Amino acid sequence: MSFFTYRNGAMHAEGVALAAIAAQVGTPFYCYSAGALRAAWQEFADGIRGMNASVCYAMKANSNLAVIRLFGELGAGADIVSVGEMQRALAAGIPAGRIIYSGVGKKASELMAALQAGVGQINVESSSELETLNAVAGQLGVAADITIRVNPDVDAGTHAKITTGRKENKFGIDIDLARDAYALAGRLPNLRVVGVAMHIGSQLTSLDPYRSAIVRVRELIGQLRADGHAIDRFDIGGGLGIVYADERPPSIPDFLAMVARETDGLGCELTFEPGRRLVGEAGVLVGEVILVKPGAAKTFVIVDAAMNDLIRPTLYEAWHDIVPVRERRDAATIRCDIVGPICESGDYLAQNRDLPPLAAGDLVMIRSAGAYGAVMASAYNTRPLAPEVMVDGTRFAVIRPRPSIEEMLSAERFPPWMEPTKP
Ligand code: LLP
Repeated sequence: MSFFTYRNGAMHAEGVALAAIAAQVGTPFYCYSAGALRAAWQEFADGIRGMNASVCYAMKANSNLAVIRLFGELGAGADIVSVGEMQRALAAGIPAGRIIYSGVGKKASELMAALQAGVGQINVESSSELETLNAVAGQLGVAADITIRVNPDVDAGTHAKITTGRKENKFGIDIDLARDAYALAGRLPNLRVVGVAMHIGSQLTSLDPYRSAIVRVRELIGQLRADGHAIDRFDIGGGLGIVYADERPPSIPDFLAMVARETDGLGCELTFEPGRRLVGEAGVLVGEVILVKPGAAKTFVIVDAAMNDLIRPTLYEAWHDIVPVRERRDAATIRCDIVGPICESGDYLAQNRDLPPLAAGDLVMIRSAGAYGAVMASAYNTRPLAPEVMVDGTRFAVIRPRPSIEEMLSAERFPPWMEPTKP
């Protein structure tokens, strides 16, 4: 079921017309459907029923407090990669014990903050992090529950910039070196080994890489147990893909059933860290056409949403569906690039699209923008961060307002040696 559909010729998020939000909030803005977020969560919740498993939302995909709280109230933990994300998770009401701290380069100060807050599990990615964490835990007089993230060297078949499970990626500890790392962890007095973790990439549209990786990690778990380590948890990571164009990603039940099969008899509590799959299709970006510029080669539709608002098209050659907010039944289309107003040729949301002829003032909706959209936005060109709106049934609320230019400027300072600005 899509939570973004035309009703009476106008695109709605659940029961709210996007044009009505635009009239109140201005454009561009991100819009999330609470119903879609809940539905995606429910599929995971249903799928793990009866399994010894939990879901920690990878909040890097969308870290708005309201989104985190929505999942937290449904029972989610959080997968974090920074102390900033930890503070968000706590502020949104996620209990510290349900937080997993991932990341390839954690600083001693960050590890200390995480231990002080009582995060449930730290996924360690290098021997030097093991040593640092042990020292920090010793200073605090606590034991840190850890897994080691291993790199199983499988090809996730995704875009080069979001694959993580190959030998040549910086992530995790090479699976062939993992036993040495566990041996070190076992010798460090302030660490308590609780399991093993992996994450092989993002936007996976096949189960095969997961299966190969699990098979490898399973074998490792046997060796580690023989070496005397307590491996009670297996963190599978995230990475399940969504639909942007015509992908056919595995269903959540199929994914979970495959993992259940492949880990059968292993005696591990499983953790899943989905990000994109929980939020991606639940969010859209809405922009307004500023002007249309016919060119010799093609037409440019210049909209007020730009690469600073959604960087995925230019950073990953990502394809996002774009549709007019007012339903168009005209058969005729024009070939166009949908671009922003930023002074860079890379500032596009779509290239070579066939869309009904658009005119200044028309609203357009960019689909599947709920994951890695708002969180990756910047204020380049002093463009205020696009506001975020949550719709729930027939209600909507701004969950992050657009900052004023004054607010943006007020964060900056002149050095004391500069002349004050003349009034
Ligand atoms: N766990 C770990 C350790 C991760 O590094 C990630 C994502 C996830 C879970 C969640 O993965 P997901 O389920 O969302 O695929 N900015 C890129 C995606 C980067 C993903 C980074 N790691 C994009 O826009 O496609």
